[in-house]
Amino acid sequence: MQIDVVTLFPEVFEGALSTGVLGRAARNGVLEVRLHQLRDFAAGKHAVVDDAPYGGGPGMVMKPEPIFAAVESITAGLERKPLIVLLSPQGRPLTDGLARRMAATGSLVLICGHYEGVDERVAEHLVDDEISIGDYVLSGGELPALVLIDAVARYVPGVLGSIDSAARDSFSTGLGGLLQGPVYTRPAEFRGWKVPEVLLSGDHLAIDAWRKRHVTERSRARRPDLLK
Ligand SMILES: C[S@@+](CC[C@H](N)C(=O)[O-])C[C@H]1O[C@@H](n2cnc3c(N)ncnc32)[C@H](O)[C@@H]1O
Repeated sequence: MQIDVVTLFPEVFEGALSTGVLGRAARNGVLEVRLHQLRDFAAGKHAVVDDAPYGGGPGMVMKPEPIFAAVESITAGLERKPLIVLLSPQGRPLTDGLARRMAATGSLVLICGHYEGVDERVAEHLVDDEISIGDYVLSGGELPALVLIDAVARYVPGVLGSIDSAARDSFSTGLGGLLQGPVYTRPAEFRGWKVPEVLLSGDHLAIDAWRKRHVTERSRARRPDLLK
C-alpha cells in the first residue's frame, strides 16, 4: 500500500510511522508512506500557503494553488490513480468498513488542512472524498491522517501478523460489526478480582459461547446503535 501525505508538518508523522505495527509494516515493505511538505509547492520567496478568507472573518484559509500543485506532482508519477482524500471535520465519518475499502484501493493521497480549513475548490475539484475522524475539531489534519493510516494499514495484507486479528476486532465483519467484549490475561486472580471461570476451563465450545454472549451484551449496553 502506498500513501502520500501532503502536510505543513511532516515531523508530526515520524514517531508514529516508525514504531509498532506501522513501523514494522514499513520495514517489511508492505506499507510505504511518503511525506510531502506543502510549502515546497508554494510560489514566491515566502512560500505562502494561506490567505485571509473572502467575505471577512477570523483566521486564514489554505490556498488552493499549492495543494493542487502538490497532488498533481504526486499523481503524475503514479501508474494508477490513487484515491485523493481531504481530512475534514465536515467529511463523512471514518468507519471500519470505510478503512477496509480504502485499503483495497492500494494507494491514497491524504491532504492535511490547517487554520480555518482549505479553500472549497480543493474539495470540489481535486479530491475524491472528504473524511472526518469524529465530531470534534482538531487544529490540523495530521493527527486525523495518522488515525486513518493506522486504521487502513490494519487491513493491508501482511501488516498484522494474521489478517484474522483484524477480523476479530470491534466493528469488524467477523463480529458482525459489534464490539469485541472483555479480554483477560494472567494472573487468574488479581487483588481478589477473578478471571471468569469458563475462560480457564479449556472447553472451547463454552468459551466461544461466552465470547459471543459478551459481544452482544456489551454492544447492547454501550452501542445499541450497532445492533440495528
Ligand atoms: C481547525 S480545523 C478547521 C475546521 C473548520 N473551520 C470547520 O469548522 O469545519 C483545521 C484542519 O484540521 C483537520 N481536522 C480538524 N478536525 C478534524 C476531524 N474531526 N476530522 C478530520 N480532519 C480534521 C482538517 O484538515 C481541517 O482543515
